Amino acid sequence: MSVQSYCPVKPISNGLQIKQHFPVFDSAPEDVFFDNASTTQKPQSVIDVFQRFYSAECSNAGRAVYPSSFRAAQSIEQARRDVARFINADVNEIAFTAGATDSLNAVAWSWGLSNLKDGDEILYCPQDHSSAVLPWQNLQAIMASLGRTIRLIPFSIHAVGDYDFQSIKQALSDRTRLIALSHIHHVFGVDMEIGEIRNIVGPHVKISLDASQSIGHTTVDVQKLDADFLSFSGHKMFAGNGVGILYAKAKHHERLTPFRSGGRSEPVVAGATGQSRAEFIDKIESGTANIPAISSLSAAIQFIDRIGLPEIETHVSFLTSQLILQLSTLNGIVFAPGPVTCGCPGGFGILSFRFEQAESLDIASALAYEKIYVRSGLHCRADHTNSDDFIRVSMHAYNTVDDIQIMTESLRGILS
Ligand SMILES: Cc1ncc(COP(=O)(O)O)c(C=O)c1O
Repeated sequence: MSVQSYCPVKPISNGLQIKQHFPVFDSAPEDVFFDNASTTQKPQSVIDVFQRFYSAECSNAGRAVYPSSFRAAQSIEQARRDVARFINADVNEIAFTAGATDSLNAVAWSWGLSNLKDGDEILYCPQDHSSAVLPWQNLQAIMASLGRTIRLIPFSIHAVGDYDFQSIKQALSDRTRLIALSHIHHVFGVDMEIGEIRNIVGPHVKISLDASQSIGHTTVDVQKLDADFLSFSGHKMFAGNGVGILYAKAKHHERLTPFRSGGRSEPVVAGATGQSRAEFIDKIESGTANIPAISSLSAAIQFIDRIGLPEIETHVSFLTSQLILQLSTLNGIVFAPGPVTCGCPGGFGILSFRFEQAESLDIASALAYEKIYVRSGLHCRADHTNSDDFIRVSMHAYNTVDDIQIMTESLRGILS
């Protein structure tokens, strides 16, 4: 399709106003940060959580009866409630991990080890992020060492960037137990149509959904998505580093093997919520929690709520359409599958492309020299062999049309 036929949505929120909440831009106002799929910058309210914890509240959670320890336990449970509300889950279905990668490993280990039998099959897409694929390869090797065989069956990406439904239908068999999916693709930036895939695979195949690139960009509703497991990281949604979320449907909890065993929080936590601690949480969490990072999830969710998730989605979609229009004026540009090829009226802020006349790495390096930060390379896709080397721009709430103009003009200069 012609990019001219894009119909951009008018932005409701103004990226510049949002930018004021991020101290990193105070010291570097000229920086264009276009690597948000990798990590987001942090608003002051999130930074304050870390400052407060380490300067005034430092203690371990749920292991003592003095006030700061009690408050630490309470703030973890508050974050659990906030996350549960944010993704429409029950609070007992939320466990904290070290990050999306950790959560995805927990699914493979915790569910896979105790539920897969000889000859069972897992479907996966080699073009997805390694963190969604390698845990299954690792489990396969562990099970082989125990004399058990599971099969990993690949399916492919369609030319427009979403999953190829036909190849999923072909990969499906009566031994399929789980399909690993991404909600929004980290290179192609399109919605991977999870509802359609649920219809194809039926109710008995488990879905492990990687929401790393959709969280904070669009609504992630575990009921509507009908995901059995859902994983994402705090640091990609404005919260601190070192915390991830694993959602697991309540009906699966009983059949999970403990992922990490060790010290647990004591009943001070249960007292805070009036409920006994869910079995699932104890199977996934143990040892000292990353208290400030977990607490920062509440601040990050509050920040997103203040702007409004629909407003962020509209703004980022508008930026994506503007980016396509502007980049299309550059000679030699080749767009990766994604918003351009699927004919979507906007996007989720991720756009990948390359130039016929130059290496992506060279372009990304030249842009970095001009303080414009993008990514180049294979972007952690599990299958490297046939992949193109793309430049990826990924935008969020604080990016502006000016950022896009600055980058486009820099690219024009670099390419000339
Ligand atoms: C789609 C996707 N899944 C998983 C991950 C892994 O996230 P983390 O490194 O926070 O564990 C990423 C990170 O870029 C990602 O883009």
